Amino acid sequence: MDRPTLPLVDLRRQYASIKTEIDEKISGVLKSTAFILGSEVKEFEKEFAAFCSVGLSVGVNSGTDALSLALLALGVGEGDEVITSPNTFIATAAAISHVGARPVLVDVDPESYNIDVSQIEKGITGKTRAIIPVHLYGQPSEMDATLQIAKNHNMKVVEDACQAHGGEYRGRRVGSLGDISAFSFYPGKNLGAYGDGGAVVTDKNELAGRIRLLRDHGSPKKYYHDVIGYNSRLDEIQAAVLRVKLRYLNVWNEKRRRNARLYSEYLKDLVDKGLVSTPKEKNWAKHVYHLFVIQVDERLRDKLIEHLNARGIGAQIHYPIPIHLQKAYKHLGYTEGSFPVSERLVKRIISLPMFPELEQQEIEHIAQEIRAFFKQMPPSQNHR
Ligand SMILES: Cc1ncc(COP(=O)(O)O)c(C=O)c1O
Repeated sequence: MDRPTLPLVDLRRQYASIKTEIDEKISGVLKSTAFILGSEVKEFEKEFAAFCSVGLSVGVNSGTDALSLALLALGVGEGDEVITSPNTFIATAAAISHVGARPVLVDVDPESYNIDVSQIEKGITGKTRAIIPVHLYGQPSEMDATLQIAKNHNMKVVEDACQAHGGEYRGRRVGSLGDISAFSFYPGKNLGAYGDGGAVVTDKNELAGRIRLLRDHGSPKKYYHDVIGYNSRLDEIQAAVLRVKLRYLNVWNEKRRRNARLYSEYLKDLVDKGLVSTPKEKNWAKHVYHLFVIQVDERLRDKLIEHLNARGIGAQIHYPIPIHLQKAYKHLGYTEGSFPVSERLVKRIISLPMFPELEQQEIEHIAQEIRAFFKQMPPSQNHR
């Protein structure tokens, strides 16, 4: 497909709307030549912590490192097990592997696509040290039950908030609920940098202090190294960009929510006929729609994506293969059938274009194209 007219995410429109501010900020960093751990990172960390309603935030180089450094700071490592879900981006599991621990998977809830809390206890063994609930697609995972289970079993909770900046669980911001949380600022995220970036947020001084050491070669002072660390710093240019964008994030999230409502409205007839299902916001959740994911019959899913792509609409799948069926995770020993809910979902899901600047008539047009697809299908193929 050539560049779609309606891509899944259109970062050009967003840049056009904030170009003057962004260009000025980037040029300010260039003029200062302070590229590493300067005032932009420091200020961004304070502002992002306030945004998440937590005490402390530490900028790192990606969401993946945010997760692995969070686990390391909690002391999770070789021989330990960490519970998470199979329907997530590979980085959630990879971060667990990077610290030497083993990912233990628990299936997801069919409505929220997040970890099924009623099954978490099945995954707990004597080696389980932490749970990573993923707030997938921007919908907060069920945190009260997760935190209670963690407390009962003396385990830590690391929120994977990489897709949910600004999401709320029972009125509280994601990132402020577990022991420590990871965010990604990959460009397409709700808060995206112009390159890679991430942050760890926590209320615990000791954990934030460890992350600060780990992200910068274990060094509390230049050329003094207390532990063996990493080079995982958020850079000044990215922090400067993020500071500009953070000021718009609440408004952008509201626009995403409006767009989600419009999609649900325009697709309602197809939902009523059982041809499409739209995302369900849990009653505890303020969903921030990083992605707008619908479901259709698995026999029609790929054809519908082709139909949309052929018409310049950037529909995709997040994610086509669950973690346990990825080649990289064969060694965990799971098989087809291990996680039936995730396995069914990945065959049925489609992410439709979603970004704040998407316009009402564009959403209406996408819905029309989906309707046209079902109209041209022989009735026998219009299955529930
Ligand atoms: C759920 C989830 N976890 C972790 C990550 C990793 O973030 P990054 O790409 O910044 O390393 C991402 C983002 O891609 C993600 O969506």
